Amino acid sequence: METAAGAMGGKEDAAMREVLVLNGPNLARLGTREPDVYGTANFDDLSALCRETGRRLGLHVEVRQTDDEAELVGWLHEAADGRLPVVLNPAAFTHYSYALRDAISQRTAPLIEVHISNPAAREEFRHTSVVAAVATGTIAGFGLRSYVLALQAVAELLAEQEATGAARPAAR
Ligand code: DQA
Repeated sequence: METAAGAMGGKEDAAMREVLVLNGPNLARLGTREPDVYGTANFDDLSALCRETGRRLGLHVEVRQTDDEAELVGWLHEAADGRLPVVLNPAAFTHYSYALRDAISQRTAPLIEVHISNPAAREEFRHTSVVAAVATGTIAGFGLRSYVLALQAVAELLAEQEATGAARPAAR
Protein backbone atom coordinates (compact mmCIF):
# COMPACT_ATOMS: atom_id res chain seq x y z
CA MET A 1 0.00 0.00 0.00
CA GLU A 2 1.33 3.42 -0.86
CA THR A 3 1.91 5.52 2.22
CA ALA A 4 1.21 9.22 2.45
CA ALA A 5 4.97 9.75 2.71
CA GLY A 6 5.48 7.74 -0.49
CA ALA A 7 2.97 9.89 -2.31
CA MET A 8 4.87 12.96 -1.14
CA GLY A 9 8.03 11.72 -2.84
CA GLY A 10 9.76 10.55 0.31
CA LYS A 11 8.66 13.30 2.66
CA GLU A 12 8.61 11.79 6.12
CA ASP A 13 5.24 11.03 7.66
CA ALA A 14 6.46 12.59 10.88
CA ALA A 15 6.94 15.89 9.08
CA MET A 16 3.37 15.88 7.78
CA ARG A 17 0.98 17.90 9.88
CA GLU A 18 -2.14 16.06 10.93
CA VAL A 19 -5.47 17.69 10.13
CA LEU A 20 -8.90 16.51 11.25
CA VAL A 21 -11.81 16.87 8.82
CA LEU A 22 -14.89 16.60 11.03
CA ASN A 23 -18.44 16.25 9.74
CA GLY A 24 -21.72 16.58 11.60
CA PRO A 25 -25.15 15.01 11.24
CA ASN A 26 -26.56 13.59 8.01
CA LEU A 27 -23.33 14.07 6.08
CA ALA A 28 -22.74 10.29 5.89
CA ARG A 29 -25.81 10.30 3.67
CA LEU A 30 -24.21 12.38 0.94
CA GLY A 31 -25.02 10.97 -2.47
CA THR A 32 -28.60 10.04 -1.59
CA ARG A 33 -29.43 13.06 0.58
CA GLU A 34 -31.02 15.90 -1.43
CA PRO A 35 -28.68 15.48 -4.42
CA ASP A 36 -30.05 18.68 -5.93
CA VAL A 37 -28.54 20.55 -2.96
CA TYR A 38 -25.52 18.44 -2.00
CA GLY A 39 -24.62 16.67 -5.27
CA THR A 40 -24.30 12.99 -6.09
CA ALA A 41 -20.85 12.25 -4.63
CA ASN A 42 -21.06 10.12 -1.49
CA PHE A 43 -19.21 10.35 1.81
CA ASP A 44 -16.50 7.92 0.66
CA ASP A 45 -15.88 10.18 -2.34
CA LEU A 46 -15.60 13.17 0.01
CA SER A 47 -13.17 11.30 2.29
CA ALA A 48 -11.01 10.24 -0.66
CA LEU A 49 -10.98 13.80 -2.02
CA CYS A 50 -9.87 15.18 1.36
CA ARG A 51 -7.14 12.58 1.82
CA GLU A 52 -5.88 13.09 -1.74
CA THR A 53 -5.89 16.88 -1.30
CA GLY A 54 -3.99 16.42 1.96
CA ARG A 55 -1.33 14.29 0.26
CA ARG A 56 -0.88 16.99 -2.38
CA LEU A 57 -0.48 19.63 0.33
CA GLY A 58 1.74 17.58 2.64
CA LEU A 59 -0.99 17.14 5.25
CA HIS A 60 -2.07 13.91 6.86
CA VAL A 61 -5.85 14.14 6.75
CA GLU A 62 -8.18 12.10 8.93
CA VAL A 63 -11.86 12.30 7.99
CA ARG A 64 -14.62 11.56 10.51
CA GLN A 65 -18.40 11.89 10.62
CA THR A 66 -20.92 11.64 13.43
CA ASP A 67 -24.59 12.33 13.98
CA ASP A 68 -23.87 12.78 17.68
CA GLU A 69 -23.23 16.22 19.16
CA ALA A 70 -21.35 14.85 22.18
CA GLU A 71 -19.00 12.86 19.95
CA LEU A 72 -18.28 15.92 17.83
CA VAL A 73 -17.58 17.99 20.96
CA GLY A 74 -15.20 15.25 22.12
CA TRP A 75 -13.32 15.35 18.81
CA LEU A 76 -12.97 19.13 19.12
CA HIS A 77 -11.50 18.66 22.62
CA GLU A 78 -9.08 16.11 21.15
CA ALA A 79 -8.06 18.64 18.47
CA ALA A 80 -7.60 21.38 21.08
CA ASP A 81 -5.47 19.14 23.31
CA GLY A 82 -3.42 17.89 20.34
CA ARG A 83 -3.08 21.32 18.74
CA LEU A 84 -4.56 19.90 15.57
CA PRO A 85 -5.96 22.09 12.78
CA VAL A 86 -9.57 21.24 11.89
CA VAL A 87 -11.79 21.53 8.85
CA LEU A 88 -15.32 21.34 10.27
CA ASN A 89 -18.68 20.95 8.59
CA PRO A 90 -20.98 21.22 11.61
CA ALA A 91 -24.04 20.58 9.38
CA ALA A 92 -27.27 21.49 11.20
CA PHE A 93 -25.36 22.05 14.48
CA THR A 94 -24.02 25.18 12.77
CA HIS A 95 -27.29 26.93 13.37
CA TYR A 96 -27.95 26.23 17.05
CA SER A 97 -25.23 24.34 18.94
CA TYR A 98 -23.70 26.53 21.61
CA ALA A 99 -21.96 23.40 22.93
CA LEU A 100 -20.11 23.16 19.63
CA ARG A 101 -19.32 26.85 19.68
CA ASP A 102 -17.88 26.59 23.20
CA ALA A 103 -15.76 23.60 22.12
CA ILE A 104 -14.46 25.48 19.08
CA SER A 105 -13.62 28.47 21.30
CA GLN A 106 -11.01 26.26 22.99
CA ARG A 107 -9.16 25.61 19.76
CA THR A 108 -5.39 25.88 19.72
CA ALA A 109 -4.89 25.78 15.94
CA PRO A 110 -6.75 27.04 12.86
CA LEU A 111 -10.30 25.79 12.39
CA ILE A 112 -12.10 26.36 9.10
CA GLU A 113 -15.89 26.08 8.98
CA VAL A 114 -17.07 24.59 5.69
CA HIS A 115 -20.39 24.04 3.99
CA ILE A 116 -21.15 22.24 0.76
CA SER A 117 -24.13 24.42 0.00
CA ASN A 118 -24.39 28.15 0.55
CA PRO A 119 -26.51 28.46 3.70
CA ALA A 120 -26.90 32.23 3.14
CA ALA A 121 -28.85 31.48 -0.03
CA ARG A 122 -31.19 28.97 1.65
CA GLU A 123 -33.87 28.98 4.34
CA GLU A 124 -33.79 31.75 6.95
CA PHE A 125 -32.75 29.45 9.82
CA ARG A 126 -29.57 28.57 7.91
CA HIS A 127 -28.50 32.22 7.72
CA THR A 128 -27.26 32.10 11.31
CA SER A 129 -24.04 30.32 12.19
CA VAL A 130 -23.40 30.24 15.92
CA VAL A 131 -19.89 28.94 15.28
CA ALA A 132 -18.61 31.32 12.58
CA ALA A 133 -17.37 33.94 15.04
CA VAL A 134 -15.05 31.49 16.78
CA ALA A 135 -13.75 29.83 13.59
CA THR A 136 -10.66 31.08 11.75
CA GLY A 137 -12.87 31.55 8.70
CA THR A 138 -15.72 30.05 6.70
CA ILE A 139 -15.88 28.58 3.19
CA ALA A 140 -19.34 27.79 1.84
CA GLY A 141 -21.16 27.14 -1.38
CA PHE A 142 -18.49 25.45 -3.50
CA GLY A 143 -19.78 21.90 -3.24
CA LEU A 144 -17.11 19.40 -2.18
CA ARG A 145 -14.56 21.95 -3.37
CA SER A 146 -15.29 23.84 -0.13
CA TYR A 147 -13.21 21.16 1.65
CA VAL A 148 -10.36 21.45 -0.88
CA LEU A 149 -10.27 25.22 -0.40
CA ALA A 150 -10.37 24.82 3.38
CA LEU A 151 -7.45 22.36 3.34
CA GLN A 152 -5.52 24.79 1.13
CA ALA A 153 -6.21 27.52 3.68
CA VAL A 154 -4.97 25.28 6.50
CA ALA A 155 -1.79 24.44 4.55
CA GLU A 156 -1.11 28.12 3.88
CA LEU A 157 -1.72 29.12 7.50
CA LEU A 158 0.62 26.38 8.74
CA ALA A 159 3.30 27.37 6.20
CA GLU A 160 2.97 30.98 7.30
CA GLN A 161 3.37 29.96 10.95
CA GLU A 162 6.48 27.98 10.12
CA ALA A 163 7.94 30.80 8.01
CA THR A 164 7.48 33.32 10.78
CA GLY A 165 8.78 30.86 13.33
CA ALA A 166 5.57 31.14 15.27
CA ALA A 167 5.34 28.45 17.87
CA ARG A 168 2.41 26.17 17.37
CA PRO A 169 -0.42 26.98 17.86
CA ALA A 170 0.02 30.71 17.51
CA ALA A 171 -2.16 31.26 14.41
CA ARG A 172 -5.42 30.64 16.12
C1 DQA B 1 -24.51 22.08 5.42
C2 DQA B 1 -25.55 23.19 5.50
C3 DQA B 1 -26.42 23.05 6.74
O1 DQA B 1 -27.40 24.07 6.77
C4 DQA B 1 -27.13 21.71 6.73
O2 DQA B 1 -27.85 21.54 7.94
C5 DQA B 1 -26.22 20.57 6.49
C6 DQA B 1 -25.15 20.71 5.50
C7 DQA B 1 -23.69 22.14 4.11
O3 DQA B 1 -22.65 21.51 4.07
O4 DQA B 1 -24.12 22.77 3.13
O5 DQA B 1 -26.41 19.48 7.02
O6 DQA B 1 -23.61 22.24 6.50
